[in-house]
Amino acid sequence: RPRTEPMGLLSFLLAVRRNPLTTWMDKHFEEPVITGDGVLGRMTVVNDPVIIRHVLVDNAANYRKDDLQIRVLAPGLGRGLLTAEGEDWRLQRRTLAPLFTPRTVASFLPAMVEAADRLVRRWQRRPNGRIVDASVEMTRITLDVLERTIFTKGATWDPDALAGAISRYFEGIGRVDPIDIFGFPDWVPRIGRLRARPAIRFFEQLVNELIEARRALLARGEPAPHDLLTLLLQASDPETGRGLSDEDVRANIVTFIGAGHETTANALSWSLYLLSQDPKSRARIEEEVDRVLGDGPIMFDHLERLVFTRAVLDETLRLYPPAPYLSRAAIAEDRIGSLPIPAGSVVTVAPYVLHRHRGLWEAPDAFNPERFLPENRDRIDRFAYLPFGAGPRVCIGASFALQEATIVLASVVRAVRLDLMPGHEVRPVHRVTLRPEGGLPMRLTHRKTL
Ligand code: HEM
Repeated sequence: RPRTEPMGLLSFLLAVRRNPLTTWMDKHFEEPVITGDGVLGRMTVVNDPVIIRHVLVDNAANYRKDDLQIRVLAPGLGRGLLTAEGEDWRLQRRTLAPLFTPRTVASFLPAMVEAADRLVRRWQRRPNGRIVDASVEMTRITLDVLERTIFTKGATWDPDALAGAISRYFEGIGRVDPIDIFGFPDWVPRIGRLRARPAIRFFEQLVNELIEARRALLARGEPAPHDLLTLLLQASDPETGRGLSDEDVRANIVTFIGAGHETTANALSWSLYLLSQDPKSRARIEEEVDRVLGDGPIMFDHLERLVFTRAVLDETLRLYPPAPYLSRAAIAEDRIGSLPIPAGSVVTVAPYVLHRHRGLWEAPDAFNPERFLPENRDRIDRFAYLPFGAGPRVCIGASFALQEATIVLASVVRAVRLDLMPGHEVRPVHRVTLRPEGGLPMRLTHRKTL
């Protein structure tokens, strides 16, 4: 429930660390533009689709990512595509574009289907009524997909050990330390990161070894596996012909994992939660999945026929956008209507708020996947719905994520039914991404054995 009174400074800082969602106020869900001068300088929250388009698209050249998010993300992700700026970003975006074309994403379908089958087979060995943590399981599967699509097989480590190291790595770097907010220099120790140091070292060393081994293989002219690592090492800027340095490759591997695993996992967890709360939608998705997939393996042409499944995901991304908060800093002074935006001040587009805004959505808090069916979709303003952002810095992995989420959700729905464990209270917490606090314990009932 949004607050009606503003917070004091200390409570605000604590809330930013614990759960920034609790800082949103009623007025944010009602007004098109809210401006305030706070501890972090002038901040303008925009919920007006016309203004959002101005900031993210039409005048995007005047806005850069603000310092806070770079301070929070860059120590972990390095200067990969998500945190790069200016010419460095432009060069990386051009170079990486071929990695996410529809054709390349489609070529990863078998890896995604295999990962989904592995999960379903594991669940099928569990007895009926067993409680599983859907949030942990979804994180595991999105990591599995990334391992299969970034490094493929042939690797010599245990996949669960790698998954554990990746989780600890992101747990360690993913905590927003209050000192990050004020921009202390990098040598000031961050407690979260100190604790995660061994995992960070292990993971970074592992990625370095992978890069080295794959470069050697390519140099020998041996056939390389089709995966994102090979594509990264072979990518070159179409304008200059320059390839990526090892440092760029490393930063982007970490970035793809960082930007791609918890976000997609949360989309899946929240969709399973929402379906468990809505028998009508659950019956409808089960009917669709059974009809379209039958008992066979998922094929590419099934995806466009899973229309309701996709609507469930779209509606989930509306109610629980995994990236709940985007922000930009104005480079030069700007003017939005009559509102001056001083140079350096921060403009925030918060999908979590925008997607539940009372002036933009009918029954904003209700789960209603029908609004995303093809016949209704035209009624949604492109700039009122931004789970993947918009403009030049729109998520490069959006179609990868949607393809993966559709495959995993359809596979899970076909095999099992999941009900929230009675008595468990579900609370969204914003910790870099928007996740269910304390996990998502769900009771498993088998539907179909494959
Ligand atoms: C950027 C959301 C999955 C890689 C973004 C942005 C959003 C977003 C909102 C824009 C941030 C901004 O403008 O400040 C999501 C969601 C996902 C998802 C909700 C899943 C449901 C993925 C996946 C990958 C990925 C699977 C890669 C495999 C990236 C990268 C950027 C990005 C590299 C930076 C793009 C740039 O700045 O040029 N994502 N993402 N994302 N995402 Fe995703």
